[in-house]
Amino acid sequence: MSKRRPIIGGNWKMNTNAESAVALARGVADGCAGLSGVEVFVCPPFPYLTHVGSALNNAVMLAAQDLYHEPDGAFTGEISTAMLADCGVRAVLTGHSERRHVIGEGDALINKKTRAALNAGLLAVLCVGEKLDQRDAGETDAVNERQIRAGLAGVTPDQMARVVIAYEPVWAIGTGKTATPADAQDAHAKIRAVLTDLYGPEIAGATRIQYGGSVKASNAAELFGQPDIDGGLIGGASLKTADFLDIVRAAAG
Ligand code: 13P
Repeated sequence: MSKRRPIIGGNWKMNTNAESAVALARGVADGCAGLSGVEVFVCPPFPYLTHVGSALNNAVMLAAQDLYHEPDGAFTGEISTAMLADCGVRAVLTGHSERRHVIGEGDALINKKTRAALNAGLLAVLCVGEKLDQRDAGETDAVNERQIRAGLAGVTPDQMARVVIAYEPVWAIGTGKTATPADAQDAHAKIRAVLTDLYGPEIAGATRIQYGGSVKASNAAELFGQPDIDGGLIGGASLKTADFLDIVRAAAG
């Protein structure tokens, strides 16, 4: 494991209800209490942020799945960074593949959201990753590079301390297919090279890059053992307390 502190996120997506979200949060918080060597966050659906925040402890950070970059105004259905902060949120995903490919967000909007999150003092988890046809066409690294450069445009070197990159190959999300540790490592190393080009070796070497896409307890340790993989962003397996905690412990080493 590298000198970077691994970080594990649970992205609950559009799952749970008020009761099950709180139960899940309590279980995760209890299991993470006293664990060192790993940082943990969970992203419940917006309506449950406050409930879940009250059920967490200092061992688990409250995070959101999305935000809107404008501070306030006529943006029906959207949520500002100030509203998130009011709910106790400290981190937020930007550019998740479902926002990109189901909802239709593009790089320019994702960049605005990333900068808004950072300007508001939040930790921004910028998600990138290629679709299956892009992988088959040998475009994985080019897609990641384009999404990283566009997503981080205007982000200052100082702000990079609050940026986490999540590499999530779209074809691996929710499919049970995982990138091999070697393929994932290769993509992460290339992403770090892009960060080096943008910010220099020191900042690139300190930036955490999570892997996401069908991570489970049985494959987590091998993935997290790769030199450029600094933890994971977990979907399906984050909805079961025991499974998620097994993954957290795999990252804690
Ligand atoms: P799965 O772990 O369900 O593949 O989801 C990954 C993901 O999209 C996390 O953000």
